[in-house]
Amino acid sequence: MSKTTAAITAVGGYVPKFVLTNNMLEDMVETNDEWIVSRTGIKERRVLKPEEGEGTSYLAIKAAEDLIQKKNIDPKEIDLVIIATATPDSMVASTAAFVASEIGAVNAFAYDLLAACSSFLFGMSTAASYIESGRYKKVLLIGADKMSSIIDYTDRTTCIIFGDGAGAALFEPNEEGLGLQDEYLRADGSGRQYLGMDAGGSLMPATEETVKNRKHFIYQDGRTVFKFAVSNMADVAEKIMERNNLEHTDVSWLVPHQANKRIIDATANRMGLDNDKVLMNIERYGNTTSATLPLLLADFEGRLKKGDNLVFAAFGGGFTWGSIYLKWAY
Ligand code: UT7
Repeated sequence: MSKTTAAITAVGGYVPKFVLTNNMLEDMVETNDEWIVSRTGIKERRVLKPEEGEGTSYLAIKAAEDLIQKKNIDPKEIDLVIIATATPDSMVASTAAFVASEIGAVNAFAYDLLAACSSFLFGMSTAASYIESGRYKKVLLIGADKMSSIIDYTDRTTCIIFGDGAGAALFEPNEEGLGLQDEYLRADGSGRQYLGMDAGGSLMPATEETVKNRKHFIYQDGRTVFKFAVSNMADVAEKIMERNNLEHTDVSWLVPHQANKRIIDATANRMGLDNDKVLMNIERYGNTTSATLPLLLADFEGRLKKGDNLVFAAFGGGFTWGSIYLKWAY
């Protein structure tokens, strides 16, 4: 009997309506379009405004509804909803539980998974493991982040990079050997000083001081994070290729976290891939943290073919990073 694998059988995506362009940022901080494009590849990003909706759950619900409607599934059949995020609606109460109820996944259990920019990648491993174990048949993994809720729009080192968005992927059993093939996932806690948000957690609860000192916004030592991201993302992608005897000609698509076009180019370069095999939408959305990978799948769904070899790679705060090899199933 062939082993049951876990395949992605549907995807969906959503970005909020408001477009924040580089030119608009020029009026907000000391920066310019030429610098942003040449250093990051980003031209514009989306921001969720209160007049459209509130909270990461709003984005997650929209992405899930897109998937449900395209795949025409009954949400009551979903067994589990995982929200991969760095910006849950609030502390304590599960954002995923709210999203599951709102989309009609009334028979599902639900929880959030936090691993910064690697949240969706690690969530793929989690979702696939439930399916491979045979315990559940439909796992909905949603990567969603309202990064604008933790961005200081007076800090040019972060406000130019991040955007809001969400993407969803449905994992189901596959008997043809398609879906997740291998994974190499890593973490190194010595990196937490370089990228994060100081206050609001148990280590530094909110006080008047923390608010005054702008400690509830994300900070990063861009140069250090860049160095770690470039070498680590390329290392793990190369390792996944080696372990699975994949030549560059065997790889159909690189699906890389969209943090900086220069990091993506370096990873593709190490893998020996031409640009036309690299999925990229960073110019339109910036870095949407947990949403970058599923938004790529949603945007490029029409170009993916059954049997295609996809190599995912991500790097994020913590540090957390890794690579996944997946065969496209439809
Ligand atoms: O998704 C999670 C993981 N995050 C990442 O992977 C992000 C990794 N880091 C990066 O993508 C890049 O480091 C940045 C895009 C954040 C910054 O690019 P960089 O090439 O590393 O620039 P830098 O920080 O080394 O700064 C170079 C110069 C500095 O000026 P001086 O000191 O050389 O005079 C900065 O002050 O550019 C200046 N600068 C800016 N200039 C115009 C920094 N930010 C800006 C800006 N506009 N927005």
